[in-house]
Formats: sequence, structure tokens, C-alpha cells
Amino acid sequence: MEKKQELIHQMNKYVSNLHVFKTIVHNYHWNLVGEHFFVIHPMLDGIMSEIDASIDTVAERVLMIGGRPFGSLKVYLEHSMLQEIDSKPYHGIYVVKELLENFKLLLSELNVVLHMAESLDDQETISLITDIGSAYQKHIWMFSAWLVK
Ligand SMILES: [Fe+2]
Repeated sequence: MEKKQELIHQMNKYVSNLHVFKTIVHNYHWNLVGEHFFVIHPMLDGIMSEIDASIDTVAERVLMIGGRPFGSLKVYLEHSMLQEIDSKPYHGIYVVKELLENFKLLLSELNVVLHMAESLDDQETISLITDIGSAYQKHIWMFSAWLVK
């Protein structure tokens, strides 16, 4: 596959990851229970807004570099490395631990996109991917700090 097509495919896989991740976060937002409810429930609203913004940013960048973004839930599920979760009660500490792992996974997937964009010297894609990645690093730091006993 041509390098640019590989980048487009990897970005589409990323859009797929983000759609599944948003569903996971919504599930946690709704099914949260326990003493941390009033801290974590609204915090998850912020994460979902951020995911929505990055879905749009990455999908529109796919168009700008000559590709076509995936636009189907079936296709997202086929291309996401994240698994959907059951709808059942979840405690806050568990949710933060799971989100921390999800952000680490997403960051490593994002770095694959970044390296492909670097090999094509696609500075604009590099810039927007780096912005998303630095926001994840902030979440990883904050979630890790919150989990310290
Ligand atoms: Fe809500």
C-alpha cells in the first residue's frame, strides 16, 4: 500500500477507536456508582466532548489529505482495538483505572499515526496528532495522580 494510503487507513482506524471509546465513556458516565459519583460523572462529560472534537479533527484531516473517513458503526467496530463493555454498575476507582489504560493504548496508536505522518513530512497532521497526544498525556498524569493511595 502506498505510504499515504497507509496513513489514511491508520487515521481511519483511529477514528474507529475514538467512536468505541466514546461509547465506553458514555457507559461509565451512566452506570457510575459509589462515593466518587459527583466528581467522576461530570468529569466524563469533559472527556466525551474532547473525544467528539478529536473524531471531527482526525476525520476532516483524512479528507484534506485525499482520503475518505469511515462513517459506519459496523466499520468502526471492525477496525477498533478497543472492546465495548457491558452496561452494569461501575465504581469510580475502577473507571479511572480502565480509562488510564485506554488512554495509554490510544496514545500508542496515536504514535503509529504520528510516525507515519513524520515519514511523509506531513507537518499539519503531525501538529494535530501531537495536540491530541499531549492532552492524553495530561489525562494519564492526572488519573495516575488521583489513583495514588
Ligand atoms: Fe450526562
